[in-house]
Amino acid sequence: MNGPFPSLVLDRVGMVFPAASGSARTVLDGVDLSLHAGQCLALVGRSGSGKTTLLHLAAGIAVPTSGRVLIDGEDLGGMTENARTRLRRDRIGIVFQFFHLLPHLNVAENVALPGWIDGRPGGGLEKRVGELLDRVGLADRSRDPVGRLSGGEMQRVALCRALLNKPSLLLADEPTGSLDDRTGQVILDLLLEMAEAERCALLLVTHSLTVAARAERIFELHDGRLRQDPGVPS
Ligand SMILES: Nc1ncnc2c1ncn2[C@@H]1O[C@H](COP(=O)(O)OP(=O)(O)OP(=O)(O)O)[C@@H](O)[C@H]1O
Ligand SMILES: [Mg+2]
Repeated sequence: MNGPFPSLVLDRVGMVFPAASGSARTVLDGVDLSLHAGQCLALVGRSGSGKTTLLHLAAGIAVPTSGRVLIDGEDLGGMTENARTRLRRDRIGIVFQFFHLLPHLNVAENVALPGWIDGRPGGGLEKRVGELLDRVGLADRSRDPVGRLSGGEMQRVALCRALLNKPSLLLADEPTGSLDDRTGQVILDLLLEMAEAERCALLLVTHSLTVAARAERIFELHDGRLRQDPGVPS
C-alpha cells in the first residue's frame, strides 16, 4: 500500500541507550527522514554510528526514545508490539547481511514463510514464490535445501522472501557485506531492480561508498545526526 504518504518518515527521532555504567548513550539525536515509494536512499556511517539502530526503528523492531516513526502515514508510536509486528510483516521487507534463512527449509519454503505466517492460501502464494524465484534466476533451485546454496544465492532467496508480501518499504542492512565484490555487485543490481519493479522505497545501509553511490540520495550518520551527501568515505 503506497497511497499519498511517504513509505517511511522519521520525525525528530532520538534514541538513547542506558549504559551499564549509568550514563546514557545518545545514538540518534533528532533524525528527520522521508522516503517515498520508488526511491532509494543509502545510509553510511562509521561502525557504531547507529545505522542498524535506525533501521530497527524504521522496522518497528525497536521504539525510539523520542520522536515519531511513520510507515505509509501510520504512526508506530501508539501501536502495541503485536500491531507493529503485523505491520512489519505486511508492509516491510528486511534483508540482512547474513541472510537469516531457515536451514531446515528448502528455497521455496524460505521464500513462502511470511505468507504461511499470514495464513494465506496455497495457490496465489505458490505463484508469487515461483515468480520471484524466476526473477532472481533460482526457479530451478526451488526444492533445494538452502544449505546447499552459495552466499549470493542465499541472498537472492532472502530478497525474494523480503518482497513476498509486496512491502511498501524494503530495508537492507549491509546486504552485500558478506559477499565478494562481484557477487555483491550482482546482488546490488538485483536489489535495486526488484525494489524499483515492486515500487518499494529502499533504505540501504552500507559501509561502501561505491555501493551507496548507486542510491539517489546518500546520508551519513555522524554524532547521532544525519547529513546528506557526505563527500569523504567513512
Ligand atoms: N540494545 C542496545 N542497548 C545498548 N546499546 C545499544 C543497543 N543497540 C545498539 N547499541 C549501541 O548503539 C550504537 C550504535 O549501534 P549500531 O548497531 O546501530 O551501529 P552500526 O552503525 O550499525 O554499526 P556497524 O556498522 O558496526 O554495524 C553502538 O554503540 C551500540 O553499542
Ligand atoms: Mg550495523
